[in-house]
Formats: sequence, structure tokens, C-alpha cells
Amino acid sequence: MHNLYSIASSVLSPASRYAQGISNLFWITFWISMVILAFVSAFVIFNLVRFRDRGEGGLPPQTEGNTIVEITWTAIPLAILTVLFVLTMQTMEAVQPPKHAAADPVHVDVVAHQWWWEFRYPGSNVVTANEMHIPVGKTIRISLTSDDVIHDFWVPELGRKEDAVPGHPNTMVIEANKPGVYLGTCAEYCGAGHAWMRIRVYAQTEADYQNWLASQAQPHPQPKTALEAQGKALFVGFTCSSCHDLAGSGAPKSQNVGPDLTHLADRETLGAGVLPNTPTALRKWLADPPAIKPGVHMPNLRLTSGQLDALVAYLEEK
Ligand code: CUA
Repeated sequence: MHNLYSIASSVLSPASRYAQGISNLFWITFWISMVILAFVSAFVIFNLVRFRDRGEGGLPPQTEGNTIVEITWTAIPLAILTVLFVLTMQTMEAVQPPKHAAADPVHVDVVAHQWWWEFRYPGSNVVTANEMHIPVGKTIRISLTSDDVIHDFWVPELGRKEDAVPGHPNTMVIEANKPGVYLGTCAEYCGAGHAWMRIRVYAQTEADYQNWLASQAQPHPQPKTALEAQGKALFVGFTCSSCHDLAGSGAPKSQNVGPDLTHLADRETLGAGVLPNTPTALRKWLADPPAIKPGVHMPNLRLTSGQLDALVAYLEEK
């Protein structure tokens, strides 16, 4: 497995036409600013040297008002800001979702929660959390909302930012032009767990994506060992199933307070990025979630060592 935390996430390495547009705007703004900085610095240095105090005493000539100079220093910034304004408007238009959704874009419903992301794939019963899979080269149309406070969905290499507002779905588009893992984050302060509200987008070939979707639509496997069976009984009978859905467990629909755990075993991370998904890390997480992710809504359930082993075995079963 590659190092989970070694992937960089940068607006300067765009992997979609939307991110490319934003990156282009950044560089144009950057170079215009550099020219201004160079000009102003040179002008200041020139004047410091040319008009320095040469020990001749007295005041330099006092002048007041110069129409030509005043018009010039108003007109130049106005022209620069007009250019930047027009370029910004064009970029905003270019990163907007198309007015008419093309026939083939993939739709994903994204629901932000304190502090994790829910990804629902309409047309299938696939629901996952924090790790989103998409096919490369396709426009992904995201319907974005929130379950509690305002969050902000941002995967810099794939598109722009967009707020997730409770009761007010926003639409945005992302796209990946090459396969890979793209990191994203919540970009609006939303409470104690804001820093650990990471997004991982897996851009896959169409065939890999379809395989993933088909496998995710399957329920969790039935227990194969006594320990796994014990874990399942604990999941259903204890408090887990009131907050988490897990297809195949037989538990009724939960309150959906926490991530769907049907295919937890297929994910690379736990707690929206706070830990790598290994049996050891999952055991550590279940033993005391708030110690690992301060603010998390999942309490320390004071599970015994045996209960931890059973739950880990069941949840990580493939
Ligand atoms: Cu969610 Cu910040």
C-alpha cells in the first residue's frame, strides 16, 4: 500500500479542465502581481537613491497636485483590475456545472456530516463514506448538502470549492483526467473535527469503476468464523447499529449518524482520514474514538478486549 499521507494536494497540479481553469487564473494573477511588484520596487529604489539627502540642508521643492500623474495612477490600476475581473468572471463561468446535464455524467449525492462525508450513488444502493470512486474522463455531477452545519467540499486538483449547506442542495462538477488518488478536505470551519474531515477521490478506468460499484452494491459477507459471528451479534445487539448502517447485518435502518460500514474493509482510512484502515488501527479506534479524533460524536463505549476483537473481525471481514 502506498503511503496514505504522502500524496500532495495542490491547486497547482490540476487534473481536470475545471482545476486547470482555476490554476490558469492563479498564474495570470501571480505574474501580473509580480510585474507590479517589480515596477513599484524599482521605482521606490530609484527615488530613494536619486532624491536622497545629500547634506545640502533645507526642504526639497514642495509641489501640490499634478493632473497627469493622478489620472495615470488611477487609470493603470483600473485597467489591471478590469482585466482581472473579466478573467475571474470567465473562470467562474467555466467551472460552473453545465446548464443542461449531459446524458452521461455520473451523479453522486454528497452529504456532509460532523465530521465525515457520505457519498451516495443514485440508481444503485451504493453508499460509502470519506472515499469516493469516480470514472476518469467523465463529468461527475455532485449534489451537495449537509446534515448539520455548513461544510465545504474541496478537492483542489479536480474542481472548485462548494459549500455544503443544510436544506439547500448545491450542484457542482468535478472531473479527473487521469487515474489516481486525489485528496480533498473540508474547507469551511465546522467545529472540533474540521481538520479530520478528509476526502479521498479514487479516479479509476471505467471498467475498474464499474467493478467497484458492483462490489459495493453487495451486502457485507456473512460471518465465516465464530469470532466474526460474535462481532455481528454485537454490532446488531449493542449500540453500533443505531448510528451506522451495515447491509447484510440484518439490523434495521440506523439514524445515519455515522458512516455506512457495509464495506468498511475496502476503505484505506478510518475516521475520515485520521488512521489507516488496519485491524490494529480499527481496534485502537473502537477502544477510544475521542482520544484519536477529538470532538468525534462516537463515544468511548468501554468495549472489552474480547468485544474489540470480535467487532474488528466482523467489520474487516471481506
Ligand atoms: Cu466540515 Cu469543516
